[in-house]
Amino acid sequence: MTLDPLPIGASQPLREAWQLGNSGRLPRHVAIIMDGNGRWAQRRGESRSAGHQAGADSVRAVTRTARRLGLQALTLYAFSEQNWSRPQDEVQSLLRLLVQYLASELSEMRRSDIRLRALGNLARLPAPVRMALDATLQATQGHCSMTLSLALSYGGREEILHAARHLAQQVADGTLDVAEIDEARLQRALWTADLPSPDLIIRTSGEQRLSNFLLWQSAYAELYFTPVDWPDFRDDAFAQALVDFTTRQRRFGGIEPK
Ligand code: FPP
Repeated sequence: MTLDPLPIGASQPLREAWQLGNSGRLPRHVAIIMDGNGRWAQRRGESRSAGHQAGADSVRAVTRTARRLGLQALTLYAFSEQNWSRPQDEVQSLLRLLVQYLASELSEMRRSDIRLRALGNLARLPAPVRMALDATLQATQGHCSMTLSLALSYGGREEILHAARHLAQQVADGTLDVAEIDEARLQRALWTADLPSPDLIIRTSGEQRLSNFLLWQSAYAELYFTPVDWPDFRDDAFAQALVDFTTRQRRFGGIEPK
């Protein structure tokens, strides 16, 4: 793979990641649990919404870097099914940020040939959010250099349940035999159907758990936890996580590294 050159003055971690990208050693699919917006804001005496706003800037920075480093897929946990239980004003501010983000990033997605996807119980999103999302999904559907997936109203258990119901319905309708249900078929019934499994899952802000994110897909993912809060997680921190990934030995249950 030959990546476009980095801008002059790019940092050392970014240059190292770029070299690894050029030799095809970076993960294909990185998924991120973007955590710590609230604590970041609290430490600075600012509102939680200000933390999410700064978090949206990290989304822009990390997406641009992922594309520059040749990743095939980036999946971001932007709003969990459980996040609906947050105070209404915080939920509203997150949804507003999402709509602003979709409007401001479309030209960049076009320029960089990024396809947007959305995973989750999207029917729960308010109509104006859904419309803005659908418009961006449609506008970017032919792009193929990188897939950016936003997990919205997403829960891993809910996703597996949804897939199980879908297959059960096919069995009930007589279009599927129980014996035909295998891993591949269940995989295809997930919201991530056409995405490769994540090679690397990053969680920011020092928490070390998956919080209902990509439960099926994470079976063989490498996990990377960093104390850096999401609003501070920019190019260098991201590049460091990618470089760390290249030091892992992945055996997928066998004895030889793969
Ligand atoms: C977790 O931080 C973060 C979220 C619940 C939302 C993530 C949203 C963004 C990064 C901004 C908007 C996204 C897009 C795609 C424009 P937290 O609030 O749980 O932080 P805390 O644990 O410190 O309270």
